[in-house]
Parts: sequence; structure tokens; C-alpha cells
Amino acid sequence: MLIDKYNREIDYLRISVTQRCNFRCQYCMPEKPFEWTPKEDLLTYEEMFKFIKISIDNGIKKIRITGGEPLVRDDLYKLIEMISSYKHDIDLALTTNGYLLKQQIPKLKKAGLKRVNISIDSLEKETFGYLTKKDVLSKVLEGIDLAINSGIKVKLNSVILKNINENEIINLYNFAKNKNIQIRYIEYMENENAYSNLKTLSSKEILKTIKNITNIKEVDSKVNSAAKIYEDEDGYCFGIIEPYDDSFCKTCNRIRLSANGDLIPCLYYEDSSNIKNSLEDDKKIVNIIKEVIAKRPEKNKWSYSNKLEKVEKEISSRAFYFTGG
Ligand code: 5AD
Ligand code: SF4
Repeated sequence: MLIDKYNREIDYLRISVTQRCNFRCQYCMPEKPFEWTPKEDLLTYEEMFKFIKISIDNGIKKIRITGGEPLVRDDLYKLIEMISSYKHDIDLALTTNGYLLKQQIPKLKKAGLKRVNISIDSLEKETFGYLTKKDVLSKVLEGIDLAINSGIKVKLNSVILKNINENEIINLYNFAKNKNIQIRYIEYMENENAYSNLKTLSSKEILKTIKNITNIKEVDSKVNSAAKIYEDEDGYCFGIIEPYDDSFCKTCNRIRLSANGDLIPCLYYEDSSNIKNSLEDDKKIVNIIKEVIAKRPEKNKWSYSNKLEKVEKEISSRAFYFTGG
């Protein structure tokens, strides 16, 4: 079992399999991203799997594949297959923008994928195109339906931004509710790679809007869920992810591996340790995992008030497309 200094059990590993993406969401990537990591510095699936096996043997119970956009690697199902053949009951999930789901969902399902979170910030063609810089809303909607029909458990993620998609909170809500899948609204986290004029809607504002159409109550979310879960008067549950709220860190049970092998104790801080040159030796890997977990801070310092000012210059300049969010 892996436990950090603040008594949080770390049983969740997020792996970014690529920094690349076929979208340019304003909150994540500039239109011309900085240079990508050279190919030779990236981990191969075999290297990732080596690390994953050791992580599972030491207490990791949940793995989420992220990016960039993970499906730009069209052989991703191979990694999924390796993981699920090693441990059938692993909670194995994927976060995707949905664009390439259509081609890949059958292979992913067969390989053992159990859950998928699909990003959808707008249901309006224009806004979707403006926000993601890719005019492919209908393809994403198709991907969502195919994923649902395949029997994989689907959740939706929506980042809500002032003056861009704040008017779609209820549309997105009804869209998800009609399909009987959970939507999670995410507060935008300021970062250097995002477009500069974006402003988040706070969770309070989002809840206020939803309360106009239904009564809601907070329900006990799973102990280690990043989201606060609410139930409406019909029993439909949705979530809100508030990185600025203390409870976000209190229940944080995760470490992150980037595509080039950086093992990252906390999304907010710059700190990380690279595993690529230690993969020959299981003991070295276990030590790196333990060291990284020992370095996990109690909480981040994101706040509504000090957003982009770097607090003591600690805020990581790593992009979300590098850490996988
Ligand atoms: N703020 C909040 N969420 C973000 N994501 C990416 N960048 C940000 C950010 N700056 C999340 C979005 C997206 C997922 C892939 O990562 O929810 O759906
Ligand atoms: Fe965990 Fe760091 Fe995120 Fe806090 S900021 S929730 S400690 S990863």
C-alpha cells in the first residue's frame, strides 16, 4: 500500500501517453504548441507497462489513460490489453476528446477498457469550433453515442467559461441526463499555455444556474473522487470539480506519469522524477515511486484570487497536455 505524509492512500495512476492532440482547446493548448518532446525521449508501451506492473504490485488499483489526446495513438488498445491481461479487475479508464472514438471503440472495449470520460464543452457547432479550434461537434456526438452503446461506462467533462459556454450549462445538463450519463462541470484552472482572457465560472455560479431548474442535494461522493456529487429531484447525479477548494486535495489519491517518463507528485508543483533510465531495475522504480509519493504536498495553492501570479514561483509551468490534467 502506498501512503503519503498526509495519510492519503495513493492508489490511482494517471498516464499521459502523448502530448499531442488533434484539438487546440483554448483552456489547454496554444494554437501553435511549443516543441513536442522528441520521439526518442518518449516511453514505449513496453516501458509504460513495466512501470504499470510495478505500480499495480505496490498498490495502484485505478489507472486512467490521458494525453494530450490519447487516441491519436491508434494502437492504444495494445497498452489497454497489456494492462487488463495483467490484472483483470483493474479499474481502467480513458479520458478523450471523443473525436477518434468511432474508429477505436470496438478495439478498446475488446482490449478491456471499462470507463471513458469524454470532454464536451459545447453543444453548439460554432462555440464548439471556437473553443476547440476544430469544427467536429457532430463527430464527437457520434463518438459519445457509440461509446454508450458499446456498454463502456461513459461520463462527460465540461469546462465552463464566462462568456463562452456559460449559457450552455442547462443544455449540457439535459443532454447528459437524457442519456443517463454523469456530467462533471470543471472549474477552469489558469495556466500559462491557455489563452489569456479565459475566466472560469465558479462552482457556486454553476450550481445556482442548475438550481433554477431543479432542487439538488449534495450526496456522499466516493471517498477519493475529485468531484463533488449532487443529486437532482429525479435522482440524476452530476458532479463539480473544484480545484480551488480544499476538499480537492484532501481526497487526492493520484500520481501522474507523463509520456516522457516524469513521475509527478502533484499537478500544481514543478517537482517530478524521471523513470526512463531506471526501468531495468525494479527496485529503483519502487524507490522512485516511494520518493515521489513522499514529496506530495498537502495541497495546491490555486486560488480564485492569486490565479496566474506564481505563488513563490512554485506553480508548475507544465502544460495540461503534458501532465494529462
Ligand atoms: N482547466 C480545467 N480543466 C482542464 N482540462 C484541461 N485543461 C484544463 C484546464 N486548464 C481538462 C478538461 C478536459 C480534460 C482533458 O482536461 O476537462 O476535458
Ligand atoms: Fe493532488 Fe496536487 Fe492536485 Fe492537490 S494539486 S489535488 S495534491 S495533484
